[in-house]
Amino acid sequence: EESISVSELSQAMGVKASDLIRKLMQAGKMATINAQIDADTAAFLATDFGYTVEKKGFEVEEFIPEVAEDESKLVLRPPVVTVMGHVDHGKTSLLDAIRQADVAAGEAGGITQHIGAYNVQTQHGPITFLDTPGHEAFTAMRQRGAQVTDLVVLVVAADDGVMPQTVESIKAAKAAGVTILVAINKIDKPGATPERVMQQLTEYELVAEQWGGTTIMLPVSARTKQGIPELLEYISLQSEVLELKANPEKLAAGRVIEAKLEKGRGPVATVLVEEGTLRVGDALVTGIHYGRVRAMMNERGEHVNDVPPGYPVEVLGLSGVPVAGDEFNVVEDEKSAKEVAQHRAEKARQKELGSVKKATLEDLFAKA
Ligand code: GTP
Ligand code: MG
Repeated sequence: EESISVSELSQAMGVKASDLIRKLMQAGKMATINAQIDADTAAFLATDFGYTVEKKGFEVEEFIPEVAEDESKLVLRPPVVTVMGHVDHGKTSLLDAIRQADVAAGEAGGITQHIGAYNVQTQHGPITFLDTPGHEAFTAMRQRGAQVTDLVVLVVAADDGVMPQTVESIKAAKAAGVTILVAINKIDKPGATPERVMQQLTEYELVAEQWGGTTIMLPVSARTKQGIPELLEYISLQSEVLELKANPEKLAAGRVIEAKLEKGRGPVATVLVEEGTLRVGDALVTGIHYGRVRAMMNERGEHVNDVPPGYPVEVLGLSGVPVAGDEFNVVEDEKSAKEVAQHRAEKARQKELGSVKKATLEDLFAKA
């Protein structure tokens, strides 16, 4: 049973303790400044002094059954690899070369506007790739990308060398504690000097294996496809070492990679499933949005009914456009999803109003 002292409550509410004591006496309760009062009494006082009191709870955890991690349920999942680097160094082209499909040509202005996510079936097994834009305006996306990822492929153009977003990508990967694999791209170009890139990277404590360091650096060309098979092999070798596992039997959880409103389709979210299996019909909550998964599409536009951990997928059926980087959770039913989402929306609204008088009882207890 939660309790709060009269003095703590008075501080949290910004009301004189003597006023609270007087109010309690009027209600037939004798109390001193240090007396502990229960939640109901605190709620009564808060209401009386003009605070809105709302039901505690509606946190997403409440709707997720608590089960201890069962080691026997863990199965291998594909590695999640984020491709990062300076603008125009060839991230999207490299992914295209890996996918053998040219999406870069269709991009507005040649800049990747959004982080893209897709799974590629390679000789060594499935690998999930996240593309990030190199443009300086997209720092947050690079940081988010680094957080959800198991490995970072840092693309550095051999003719251009280490540039500001190269450095920022290194910092994001290091902050997230993620191993960096360097792809020295555009080695087909006449002015390409891979050694210069290797030399520059030593300044950021990335020393090539061939120079006695621990970082794998591969010369590649998205244009001629030189080095691509080796890159994929190193990615799978690295991920084997990491022994990436997840439980596919849980309620699904993961992260929103990108989201947009599409004509005729409504809110469309690309999500990465991190644990559990996401299924059509699942009730889902992410930030202040919720919904039932109406349909899911993989990177080839094919409908899928269930998505295991480590795979990205496009989800239809949400109430609004979620925020990229936000977590998503599957909960027991749509009603719960809606409650959590509405509770969060209300909290966000109150925070915006910024009024002390609108503090919730929950907030009062948290402050005490
Ligand atoms: P942003 O997403 O805008 O940060 O760029 P990006 O890193 O995804 O680069 P993108 O793949 O769009 O390539 C930029 C330009 O470099 C394009 O004109 C590509 O054709 C060219 N390019 C990419 N890789 C290579 C390569 O290996 N060799 C040569 N010669 N050109 C390349
Ligand atoms: Mg790109």
